[in-house]
Amino acid sequence: MKPLLNEKNMSRKKISIIGSTGSIGRSTLDVVRGFADRFEVMALGAGVNVALLAEQIVEFSPRVVSVFDADSAKTLEKLLDGKSAKRPEILFGAEGYCRVAAFPESDMLVSAMVGSAGLLPTLAAIEAGKDIALANKETLVAAGELVTAAVAAAKVKLLPVDSEHSAIFQALQGNHHEALDRILLTASGGPFIKASRQELETVTPEAALRHPNWSMGPKITIDSATLMNKGLEVIEAHWLFGTPVEQISVHIHPESVVHSMVEFIDGSVIAQLGIPDMRIPIAYAMSYPERLKTSIPRLDLFRIRELHFYPPDMEKFPCLGLAFDACRKGATMPAVLNAANETAVHAFLGKRIGFYDIPCVIREVMDRHAPSAKPDLRAILGADAWARREASKIIDAGQTKK
Ligand SMILES: NC(=O)c1ccc[n+]([C@@H]2O[C@H](COP(=O)([O-])OP(=O)(O)OC[C@H]3O[C@@H](n4cnc5c(N)ncnc54)[C@H](OP(=O)(O)O)[C@@H]3O)[C@@H](O)[C@H]2O)c1
Repeated sequence: MKPLLNEKNMSRKKISIIGSTGSIGRSTLDVVRGFADRFEVMALGAGVNVALLAEQIVEFSPRVVSVFDADSAKTLEKLLDGKSAKRPEILFGAEGYCRVAAFPESDMLVSAMVGSAGLLPTLAAIEAGKDIALANKETLVAAGELVTAAVAAAKVKLLPVDSEHSAIFQALQGNHHEALDRILLTASGGPFIKASRQELETVTPEAALRHPNWSMGPKITIDSATLMNKGLEVIEAHWLFGTPVEQISVHIHPESVVHSMVEFIDGSVIAQLGIPDMRIPIAYAMSYPERLKTSIPRLDLFRIRELHFYPPDMEKFPCLGLAFDACRKGATMPAVLNAANETAVHAFLGKRIGFYDIPCVIREVMDRHAPSAKPDLRAILGADAWARREASKIIDAGQTKK
């Protein structure tokens, strides 16, 4: 009789990770650490944090790694001198990330770089037939139509890592897609949900970086404070689940335990709950359709007792409306929204602009953009580069109008 597959005789899933030194990358490696019998790291991509990457190389022995540029590659070489680890091939730049993402022996890419820099490696992995565990939402925001078409053509799985999209994906299991009526995306609301508009005029990056519930990288933490993160997630949900934007709504839920909900055509609502710990959706994407037995603390709903939900204040958080608008306009507009946001957030973190200048920069760049219909990859990358230049010009000239 054929032996049943069990944990002992099942071969390990081989994974590549881009963004391994970031918050999601580190949590992914924590899952690998806990399930060394299930996962094997083949390739890693980081930016400039080569000291941490060197430690990851010693611990996980990847065959190939890529870093941001030639200087970072040289520093990494030096750091690895004398270390006992087997030295991986060291690459750098966009081509290096694509090679890490599409590493021939890998089964899956965990796409955890921040920003639209993750788009080309993610596409390279899809085209090479790898399943994708997607944290890098900017990839779907900028090029949702291209990415989902590539996924369908390559017949690979696109598994959400974002906790909200993982919740929706889980709520949809066992249901016909046509039975979905509405997606109800929850949002913690970030650190400023109770602040007045006047108080928000003068908030510092330090205050904006103090998220009440989640520990994340700086860009997504600022996006959470402006609610742009929820706007990007609306666009991400639109592409992941093929749901028209009119059927997606956002609900502030400060406890962050209901990660999102799906309302079905019969009136049933299915929600997924858990403590705010990204290792849960990461592990689910990595092991889907199985679930791994983790020792992550359990949600004690009966101790929390009260859950709150209320509508977002679209005037206080204009970024959310801009994202809905970009999603409705479609074509190159979401790529422009995303690139302008990345540039504005970078300037805010560098204290070059204020909190409310972020939506002003984005709105101005969107106003200047004439979206090109049915854009190919070249047009998307062109729109992204154009939007960054326009946003920088506006910031340099201090032209942020309120
Ligand atoms: N953190 C969360 O809880 C969470 C939840 C859901 C979704 N996400 C999404 O997951 C992605 C990663 O978020 P994060 O919080 O993990 O960000 P993060 O902590 O800032 O980490 C970003 C990672 O990307 C690398 N990186 C940054 N810019 C790069 C570039 N231009 N080229 C190559 N690598 C670059 C960084 O490398 P170095 O540090 O080595 O420079 C780091 O490894 C984002 O798209 C975010 O929206 C995050």
